Amino acid sequence: MHAIVIQTPGGPEALQWTEVPDPEPGPGEVVVEVTAAAVNRADVLQRRGHYPPPPGASPYPGLECSGVITATGPGVADHRVGERVCALLAGGGYAQRVAVPEGQLLPVPAGLSVQESAALPEVACTVWSNVVDVARLRKGDTLLVHGGGGGIGTFAVQLGVALGARVMVTARAAKHDRLRALGADLAIDYTGTDFVAAVREVTDGRGADVVLDIVGGAYLGRNIDVLAPGGRIAVIGLQGGRTGELDLGALMAKRGTVAATTLRARTVADKARIVRGVREQVWPLVDAGAIRPVIDRTLPMSDAAEAHRLMEASEHLGKILLLP
Ligand SMILES: NC(=O)c1ccc[n+]([C@@H]2O[C@H](COP(=O)([O-])OP(=O)(O)OC[C@H]3O[C@@H](n4cnc5c(N)ncnc54)[C@H](OP(=O)(O)O)[C@@H]3O)[C@@H](O)[C@H]2O)c1
Repeated sequence: MHAIVIQTPGGPEALQWTEVPDPEPGPGEVVVEVTAAAVNRADVLQRRGHYPPPPGASPYPGLECSGVITATGPGVADHRVGERVCALLAGGGYAQRVAVPEGQLLPVPAGLSVQESAALPEVACTVWSNVVDVARLRKGDTLLVHGGGGGIGTFAVQLGVALGARVMVTARAAKHDRLRALGADLAIDYTGTDFVAAVREVTDGRGADVVLDIVGGAYLGRNIDVLAPGGRIAVIGLQGGRTGELDLGALMAKRGTVAATTLRARTVADKARIVRGVREQVWPLVDAGAIRPVIDRTLPMSDAAEAHRLMEASEHLGKILLLP
């Protein structure tokens, strides 16, 4: 088969469409013939050499895909050859075939093509595990999503709205109309506006109950300032650095919580638990059309370098798909 191989970490040109051995399904795994894979910012970090695959994972990039099962390994009981699926991966999505633990498979939601469903597993699992499982978003809460225009952000907006939250986003102004159309109540251009003041103004000074943060260090202090009493911050990205100053007095005064998680390095069992949660709580919302994949564009997988250039320039809104 062919896969995108990173011989030497570096710029987008490091992504080379190369012939490689086919994957074999291990115990409890299936092989999926890939219809589409989606690009995540973590793939860019992996390409640059800053985010190595966890032990045992495929060396090729790609954290989510969709396709058809072509083989099952020993002990696979609940899935069969020919089934159409999408999957959360620890790596290996940028390929024609990939081996996946069966606990990381999800059905193709009603009304979506197999191709479109590639845009969902990683963002659904990341957003649900943080916004619902960790930060316990409730109906009526205010949710602030940083990076609302990204793959994670466009999903988080829709999940927040579907769960009955009032959703606010930070994003560059060019993306605001699309984000309002997805249900965001307030879009803040973080390049020229103080998001703390903007959120306080529209919440009568109360702030956000939950903050989903992809910026990290540079936003830590302001995230605590914007928090409502009893609020929860879930940090999932470090685009603004991994260190920042934490004013514990301010956090205590808010009775606030700061959590930080990664999905990729979790155990197969923990990922299966998250996938079950997503299937039970999120998939019905996708089946009902309350959440749709937001697909910016689709490119040939051999042109993965162009997808990475677009993502690094933040020219995309939502997800970029790659077709093998
Ligand atoms: N911890 C985990 O398990 C996990 C899992 C998946 C993803 N992530 C992280 O989540 C983040 C988003 O991933 P993605 O795949 O959705 O990437 P993406 O599609 O590139 O989205 C990132 C967005 O961040 C926005 N942005 C950049 N700087 C910003 C700032 N200072 N304030 C507000 N927004 C800003 C950009 O939009 P503008 O054009 O508006 O600037 C861009 O749309 C990445 O940091 C990724 O590593 C973490």
